[in-house]
Amino acid sequence: MKCEAVLLAAGLGTRMKSRLPKVLHPLAGVPMIDWSIEACSQATKVKPYLVVGPESDEVQRQADGKCIFIEQTERLGTGHAVMQVRESLEGKTDLILVAHADMPLLRPDTFERIITCQSENSGPLTILTAEVQESRGFGRIKRDESGKIQGIIEELHATPEERAIRELNVGAYVFSADWLWENIPKLPLSTKGEYYLTDMVSLAVEQDQTVESVSVTSPDEVIGINTREHLAEAEHAMRLRINRRWMEEGVTILDPETTYIGFDVQIGQDTVVHPNTHFEGSTSIGEDCRIGPNSIIRNSVVGNRSQIEASVVEGAIIEEEVEIGPFAHLREGAHLCRGVHMGNFGEVKNSRLEPGVKLGHFSYIGDAHIGENTNIGAGTITCNYDGKNKNHTDIGADVFIGSDTMLVAPLKIGRGARTGAGSVVTKDVPDWSLAAGVPARVIRKLDNHD
Ligand code: UD1
Ligand code: MG
Repeated sequence: MKCEAVLLAAGLGTRMKSRLPKVLHPLAGVPMIDWSIEACSQATKVKPYLVVGPESDEVQRQADGKCIFIEQTERLGTGHAVMQVRESLEGKTDLILVAHADMPLLRPDTFERIITCQSENSGPLTILTAEVQESRGFGRIKRDESGKIQGIIEELHATPEERAIRELNVGAYVFSADWLWENIPKLPLSTKGEYYLTDMVSLAVEQDQTVESVSVTSPDEVIGINTREHLAEAEHAMRLRINRRWMEEGVTILDPETTYIGFDVQIGQDTVVHPNTHFEGSTSIGEDCRIGPNSIIRNSVVGNRSQIEASVVEGAIIEEEVEIGPFAHLREGAHLCRGVHMGNFGEVKNSRLEPGVKLGHFSYIGDAHIGENTNIGAGTITCNYDGKNKNHTDIGADVFIGSDTMLVAPLKIGRGARTGAGSVVTKDVPDWSLAAGVPARVIRKLDNHD
C-alpha cells in the first residue's frame, strides 16, 4: 500500500525561548527536523510533506530538497495543520502517516510498524501509544473494559481519573487516506480554539469503527521537545542510542555517557574510543584506531590503526598508522600521510606531510609540503603570512629542521638539507646543505649519506 507522510512543524515552539525555530535546534549535531525527515522517508520511501507556519524561511532553507513544504497560515491546531495537506494529497495515496516534527527519537521501524498495522486492518486509523510513568503533558488513551480504544483526551481537558491513565498518545498516526479526507472536515473546534487531530479517534469510534494501536519500541521514543530541558534529555538519549549502535558494530566505547558521535559519522571495527571524545560533522574513523580521551574530530577522515590523544582535528585527512597528540591541532586541509608522528603542541593547516614525517613538539606548519621521513625540530614555525598573502613552504624529503627554526615563506628547503637550531631561514636552501644563523646562510655541503 502506498503511504505518504505528513510532518507537523508549524507550532511556535515558544517554550524554547529561542530566536532559532525549535525544529532547527541541533540534536547530535544536526537540526532535529533532519531526524524526523529521515525516519519518515525511510519508512515511506518518499519525501514527507512538512507543514510549516508563516515566517518559516529558515526551516525551508534548512530542509530544502528533503521534503515538500505546505504552509499553515493560521495555527489552529494539529487537525487544522493536516487539513492544509488535503489539496496536495487527496486521491494520491492509500495511507497517510502523520507525525510531529518535535519528536526526533521516533525510529523508522516504529513508523513502519504503524504503517504495517494500518495496512493490515480494515479500520480507519492506527495510533502510536506508550505506557510510561511520566505523563509529559501528553494526551491520554481512553479504552473501554474490553480494551477497545474510545478516544484521546488532552491533558488540559482531562479529569483527575483520566490524568491517572498511563497510556499516552505519542503523536504518530497512520490513517486510511480516503477516510481521513472525508472526515477531517467534521473535527469540532475545541474550547481552546483549535482543531485537534486527536479527535479523529472519537469520530471513528462514533462510526463504530475500530481504532488500532501500536506501542513504541523503546521508552526514549516518547521524548518530545518543547523546552531546553527536553532537548538535553533527547540529546542524552540520542547519544546513548548512537553509541549502542556503534558498539553493536564492533567499536569499543569506554564511556558511552561521555562519547559524542554525530549523525554523519562512520567508525571501523575494533576501534577504541576513550572518554570525552567528540566525532562531529562528516567524519570517518578507520578500524583498530585508538581515539581520545579528550579529542574532537570534526569533518575529517582517519585511517586504520591511527591513534589520536587529547587533540582537535578539523577538516583533516589522516592516513593509516598516524600518531597524534597529546594536544595537537589539525586544521582545514591538513593531510598526514601514513606513519606520520605529530606530538604535543603542534598545529598543521593546509599542509601535506608525507609518510614518516616527525613533528614532535611545539610547531606550526601552515601552507607547506613536507617530504618523506623529514624531521621537524621542536619549535619550528613556517612563517607563512607576510601580512598580505599566505606563502608556501616546500620542505624536501629526509630533511632535518633544527629546533626553533623560523622558515620565512615563500621558501624551499632542498632534499636532505639541515637547518641549525634557532635559524631564521629567509632564502631557499639547496639539497644536502646545512644552513644556520640569523638570517641563515649555507655554511656547509652535506654528505649525501649523512
Ligand atoms: C499533541 C497531541 C497530544 C500528544 C502530543 C504528543 C493534539 C491535540 N495533541 O499535543 O495528544 O500527546 O502532541 O506529542 O494533537 N502544530 C502545527 N500546527 C498547529 C499546531 C501544532 O503544525 O496549529 C505542530 C507543532 O509544530 C508540533 C505538533 O504539531 O510539531 C504538535 O503540536 P503541539 O502543540 O506540540 O501539541 P501537543 O500539545 O504537544
Ligand atoms: Mg508537543
